[in-house]
Amino acid sequence: MKTIKLTGSGLEMPVVGLGTWRAQPQEVENAVNVALESGYRHIDTAFNYNNEDSIGKSIKQWIDSGKGKREDLFITTKLPNFGSRPSDVERFLKLSLQRLQTDYVDLYLMHMPFSFHLNETTLSPLVNEDGSFSLDNVDFVDTWKVMEEQVQKGLVKAIGVSNFNAEQLQRLYNNSEIKPAVLQVEMHAYLQQKNLKEVCKQLQVALTAYSPLGSPGANNHFSSKYNYLLDDFPDILGHPIVKEIAQKYNKSPGQILLKHLVQNDIIVIPKSGNPDRIKANIDIFDFELAKEDIEKLDSLDKGEDGRIFDFYFFKGVENHPNYPFRKKERKE
Ligand SMILES: NC(=O)c1ccc[n+]([C@@H]2O[C@H](COP(=O)([O-])OP(=O)(O)OC[C@H]3O[C@@H](n4cnc5c(N)ncnc54)[C@H](OP(=O)(O)O)[C@@H]3O)[C@@H](O)[C@H]2O)c1
Repeated sequence: MKTIKLTGSGLEMPVVGLGTWRAQPQEVENAVNVALESGYRHIDTAFNYNNEDSIGKSIKQWIDSGKGKREDLFITTKLPNFGSRPSDVERFLKLSLQRLQTDYVDLYLMHMPFSFHLNETTLSPLVNEDGSFSLDNVDFVDTWKVMEEQVQKGLVKAIGVSNFNAEQLQRLYNNSEIKPAVLQVEMHAYLQQKNLKEVCKQLQVALTAYSPLGSPGANNHFSSKYNYLLDDFPDILGHPIVKEIAQKYNKSPGQILLKHLVQNDIIVIPKSGNPDRIKANIDIFDFELAKEDIEKLDSLDKGEDGRIFDFYFFKGVENHPNYPFRKKERKE
């Protein structure tokens, strides 16, 4: 498996990992097992995916069966944005470690640059009576200082951030002892993040693409969980150019979208609960995209208009001072 060496820790991060957002406990337990059997060594989760327990169980079974060791794996989890007050960081990390049944994670990410108040009873975001999220004005530089302490304590090997924009990343970089090793952001053929790629290259921050396939199915989740609907949810896998290139290489559209990123040294974390698709998503190392096909895929970029995760499903999020993306009119 191709890896990317992380600046600072020198850790080798496998370029394909298993995404697990929206994966239900039994589904993810099977998915991790199939993934490990198929050669995955990198799993991406988060405190608020509520599936760390199942992932931990599956990993433990794999290790106990003698198929591999903890050190063979690269596990990423994320500090929830309702746990980003400095006094809460270690507590949330330790909860994740306990659920994952491990003494350390390889990568700990600050999930979002904006914070919500914590509902202590449910360990979830506090929501106001009108349905808006209760905004907490935490400075992510203060959160980061406590994340740095977790590296010193050996509870995490590397630290990074997610959903930060270029200015926020730069500010964190300028105000940190341990520099962010990884930035995880939405990235796919419709949102190619050219500016962020440049900034990350300069700062030597590795980039992970989330929703690399365009997150089919996320629209159902947004509407059922948050009663929020995105206009024109994209179907990147169904784009005629992606399908045409897939045919040419005798690969699936998903494999083409993933290869387009990986060939550009971007780490990808496609989610699947389906054994065939889990296997297919890592089977992308036996071909190279030709220059003309890369150019065709590059031309699909819609810039900011290609963004799916604007987080508007968190009612009122755009009023947070650290909201990272272009603001738009909110429909009620
Ligand atoms: N940091 C963040 O804020 C953030 C936000 C979103 C996501 N993430 C991370 O990134 C991961 C990936 O993003 P995502 O889950 O949003 O979207 P994604 O990986 O782009 O797409 C996942 C969806 O595509 C389907 N799928 C998987 N492989 C396929 C293939 N080869 N062909 C066709 N369909 C395929 C899956 O269904 P089946 O399961 O039925 O195969 C699932 O519905 C997440 O799981 C999570 O770990 C992070």
